[in-house]
Amino acid sequence: MAQGSAVHKVAVIGGDGIGPEVTAAALEVVAEAGVCLDTASYDLGADRYIRTGEVLPDSVLEELKGVDAILLGAVGPPVGSKKVPPGLLERGLLLRLRFDLDLYVNMRPFSGVGGSIASGCDMVVVRENTEGPYAGEGGILRRGTQQEVATQGSVNTRFGVERCVRFAYQLAYDRPARRLALVHKTNVLTYAGDLWSRAFEEVGREYPEVSTDYNHVDAASIYLVENPARYDVVVTDNLFGDILTDLAGAVFGGIGFAASANLNPARTGPSLFEPVHGAAHDIAGSGRANPVAAIRSAALMLRHLGEEAAAARMEAAVEKLLAGREQAQPFGSTGEVAKSVCHLLA
Ligand code: NAD
Ligand code: IPM
Ligand code: MN
Repeated sequence: MAQGSAVHKVAVIGGDGIGPEVTAAALEVVAEAGVCLDTASYDLGADRYIRTGEVLPDSVLEELKGVDAILLGAVGPPVGSKKVPPGLLERGLLLRLRFDLDLYVNMRPFSGVGGSIASGCDMVVVRENTEGPYAGEGGILRRGTQQEVATQGSVNTRFGVERCVRFAYQLAYDRPARRLALVHKTNVLTYAGDLWSRAFEEVGREYPEVSTDYNHVDAASIYLVENPARYDVVVTDNLFGDILTDLAGAVFGGIGFAASANLNPARTGPSLFEPVHGAAHDIAGSGRANPVAAIRSAALMLRHLGEEAAAARMEAAVEKLLAGREQAQPFGSTGEVAKSVCHLLA
């Protein structure tokens, strides 16, 4: 049953560790939901680097610019790997895609799994995705000497912050609760905090219907655990968003359930969809990887491609699977979960 009118060209980067396993499971559910994708697999990640020394050849990046969407599993070597230098793949592949494709919003929705402390709650974190400490500002001087200096600055442009904040306001406006919280650390990061606060306040004047709040990121970590219902939409910088969304993953039932959309809202190129989690080398190949985050990420991708009905059916099937679940209940294998979601597609 093909639903959309066009065939969507999707680049699939399974990547490392559990990445290929959860991506295959997600594609199985997409096919069962009746969406026909024209997929092309890209062999990128640790194995390719170890084999060829290549991370993301320019020719591949150019090709990726021409697809409709990118579905990614995870990239990165085992922590402490001797074969791949730290950050080489993360910066050279994932961050390069986020930066070069101008994926300036990392939208991470959470919906509490039955039995978790956030059961019945849902929230979305809008993480700025191209700036902050991730931008690459800084350097190292006199390396290996007693006088060694390392700096890693946070880059916050008015343009970059404002477009992210505006996206978050619009998202909050479109949700029933219409609440938006800025999370930052304005009591210490006074320069970046000042810029973020002013952008938040000024863009907020365009959205008088959205009620706003502000929390320092340390306090937000308490509130998220103690009262996950407190938040509707949260907007925050790149690094705070990275950390808070792993925490939110755990609070809302487990990191294996958390999806993300790296969006180019202007649609000047493809957007990229991936789980919040990483390559999880500790469980790779064991069949224990939870594919729900990848399945939900694929649903976000389908919605972005205009396949709303199939996306909603996939999300509803996942909700059905998770609704009655007790926290302590064992979860099936990667393949079993994908099959269950397929069976629950209405
Ligand atoms: P990780 O997210 O891979 O794993 C953290 C913990 O969560 C592990 O105990 C793991 O077993 C568990 N976990 C993660 N996903 C799971 C799933 N689907 N089901 C069940 N359990 C799951 O974080 P890490 O160990 O810090 O990173 C491993 C590698 O992945 C590193 O190289 C890191 O840079 C990379 N990474 C990549 C991405 C990405 O590609 N988007 C994201 C995060 C980390
Ligand atoms: C994520 C990951 C990435 C990040 C790494 C792998 C570069 O942790 O997507 O959350 O820090 O953004
Ligand atoms: Mn992360």
